Amino acid sequence: MSILKLDLCCLHLIGEKSDMKKIKIGIMGYSNIAKKSIIPAAINHPDFELCFIGSRSLEKQIEIHEKYNIASGTYEDLLKTDIDAVYVSTPVALHYKYGLQVIDAGKHLLLEKTFTNNYETTLDLLEKGESKKVVVMEALMYQYHPLLSIIKNLLKEGSIGEIKQIEAFFGFPHLDNKDFRYNKVLGGGAILDALVYPLSLVTKLLGNANELMETDLKVHSSIQFNNELDIDENGTLLLENQFTRAVISYGFGLAYRNEYRLWGTEGILTVKRAFSRPENFTNQILLEKNTTQTLIDVPKANHFTFMLYEFSNKIHAKTYKKDSELLFRMKLIDKIYKEGYKL
Ligand SMILES: NC(=O)c1ccc[n+]([C@@H]2O[C@H](COP(=O)([O-])OP(=O)(O)OC[C@H]3O[C@@H](n4cnc5c(N)ncnc54)[C@H](OP(=O)(O)O)[C@@H]3O)[C@@H](O)[C@H]2O)c1
Repeated sequence: MSILKLDLCCLHLIGEKSDMKKIKIGIMGYSNIAKKSIIPAAINHPDFELCFIGSRSLEKQIEIHEKYNIASGTYEDLLKTDIDAVYVSTPVALHYKYGLQVIDAGKHLLLEKTFTNNYETTLDLLEKGESKKVVVMEALMYQYHPLLSIIKNLLKEGSIGEIKQIEAFFGFPHLDNKDFRYNKVLGGGAILDALVYPLSLVTKLLGNANELMETDLKVHSSIQFNNELDIDENGTLLLENQFTRAVISYGFGLAYRNEYRLWGTEGILTVKRAFSRPENFTNQILLEKNTTQTLIDVPKANHFTFMLYEFSNKIHAKTYKKDSELLFRMKLIDKIYKEGYKL
């Protein structure tokens, strides 16, 4: 087995902006993900100044102020400030409502995954962003880790030939049943919470989304449904056309699995800890070709920090164009809900 070290190919994300003014950012919703990942990443980020955190609860507003010495108040207070951008991390079913408020207030929007719970509302937010000239971006962090750039480079170099099959898995044990993921009204369910990661990998790696649709993509989906809670708990999805195929298993109530394998005409790439990676975590990609096995180092990185770089680059470059991959993915999600076979 040989070990290959690749140059980091993610540095293009970090622009030369040292002389530019910091972007004033606020946070809507004092959520677990904000506390654990986004607040620390924003406080330490060279491109942003974290100015305000909005919460519905007075108790939390006091905690925020005491803990971070940052201004706090209600969501309404947040939108009245002179901040440039807002990160929203409410339950999924509320993303559309709060996303709209942010855009209407003329502020750039970084909206947690899954962007909204259907295609129509996603399209509406993206169109409103374009017409208001604000950046509207989904906070799907894994795609900004150098890991994905390394994989894309390996594919570009032809390391496994043409991709014929993607197998991807993202699932974990049940969470506390009070979590919003078990509440239909708040946008619960595994499709919106877990499937979105491997599904976005597939739509990204298989290239131009519209081309995929045009080449007659077939969608087969089976969903383990919890009738009592009226939410989907886990499932399997098969996407295929005449060129390629993807098999995805995902959901809650499973042993932790977070990986994918790309099976090409000339080799296989296996990636572990693919979607959620702690910032100090490092491992290797396995490349198998005939009888040769090569390990490729994946560096440590904080994908939330890289995601914020992407957001600031878009703001500086005035990139207001609709995200076609996101739209295509939401179209697929609608189809999976509508046509998925419920077990
Ligand atoms: N990218 C990632 O790595 C990642 C990881 C986990 C979660 N997420 C996404 O981030 C979002 C939040 O997830 P989370 O696990 O952090 O959730 P959470 O801890 O339950 O936080 C959600 C927050 O939304 C606010 N909220 C507003 N209206 C609400 C309502 N009616 N009911 C409940 N909460 C309400 C609350 O903030 P206030 O009480 O302060 O107003 C609450 O703290 C989701 O969209 C999720 O998919 C992303």
